[in-house]
Amino acid sequence: MFVQAIVLVGGEGTRLRPLTYGTPKPMVPILNVPFLARTMERLYAAEIRDVILAAGYMPQAIVDYFGDGSGLGMNITYAIEETPLGTAGAIKNVERHITGPFFVLNGDVLTSLDLRSMREFHHEKGGIGALHLIRVEDPSPFGCVVHDDAGRITAFVEKPPKGTEPTDEINAGTYLLERDILDLIPAGRAVSIERETFPQAIAEGKALYAFTTADYWLDLGRPEQYLAAHRDVLSGAMPLAVEPGINGAGREALFGHPRVVPPIFAAADVVVDASATIGPNVVLGRGCSIGAAAAVRESVLWEHVSVGAGAIIEEAIVASGVTIGANARVAHGSVIGHDVTIDPGAILEPGTRLGAPPERIPG
Ligand code: GTP
Repeated sequence: MFVQAIVLVGGEGTRLRPLTYGTPKPMVPILNVPFLARTMERLYAAEIRDVILAAGYMPQAIVDYFGDGSGLGMNITYAIEETPLGTAGAIKNVERHITGPFFVLNGDVLTSLDLRSMREFHHEKGGIGALHLIRVEDPSPFGCVVHDDAGRITAFVEKPPKGTEPTDEINAGTYLLERDILDLIPAGRAVSIERETFPQAIAEGKALYAFTTADYWLDLGRPEQYLAAHRDVLSGAMPLAVEPGINGAGREALFGHPRVVPPIFAAADVVVDASATIGPNVVLGRGCSIGAAAAVRESVLWEHVSVGAGAIIEEAIVASGVTIGANARVAHGSVIGHDVTIDPGAILEPGTRLGAPPERIPG
């Protein structure tokens, strides 16, 4: 069965601001590699070579990185939306490129789901599509999906109030759909697949099946989840071929330092003073430098971040090109945008977000 894939990467990623002022959400790095590249690897592993990227916000950063896909042995087609068309509108917008059954992937989901097994499931079950579901402890912030014993979906309940959830199974953002579903999506306006198209499909008697798995799954929409994703990759809870301990091309910069607590991932060209405290759960991007007696814990630093002597960074995300002055303190939950300078001795409250939108969004 020849299957294409559409990856939805057009969202503005408002909840990840200020990171997404400088980097579109799909290009936000997981262990120094753009998240979308991880998704592409998963598609490749499932023998999918024909991928459509439905983009809109800062698309140039995505095009510059992936090009026509030939570097990955894939064929990438871009569809750039002038105004966001929503999750179903984005699919309708690429109708002319779709030749048969196709996967749809939310561009911000980190999961170990095996797309091949989902393809086999759909092949066996038939119907107009299959939806990947996972079980969560608290389904109330998500889209709940109810199905019968045969797996046929009977209801969608978006974000039910706590205590009223009809199930603990939620829409995990990966779908395998037949081309016929396109007939249900009106053209030329924003349409939500979760809120409009899927409920309409079942109301019209079309069969959608639940493919529930126990895979690792995380939606990277918020800073806390982004940090959690790194913890899970570093611990091995999310399999991404990372060895436990101190890892990455720059790991030697940490060897023999007495105040280093794994797991840590350090990219090439990092410089770490031997008196610095690093870890656990720290990612240092390419070219980061950490000064004497500085401390970095439970944090992800992108590329070329300079941390001055005696500075303390805890549970924070720091974008590329940031300078943190000596003895400054970046408290937990802080998110620092591209190229920000934090003065020596500055004390940032927990949850601080620093970084202004660019005057013009590039691309
Ligand atoms: P927030 O602004 O923080 O809610 O993030 P978001 O804009 O990415 O929205 P959300 O997390 O709900 O989106 C889920 C997925 O769908 C993400 O991968 C988005 O890139 C994608 N997406 C959301 N809306 C659109 C759209 O209108 N067009 C396209 N092509 N993709 C979209």
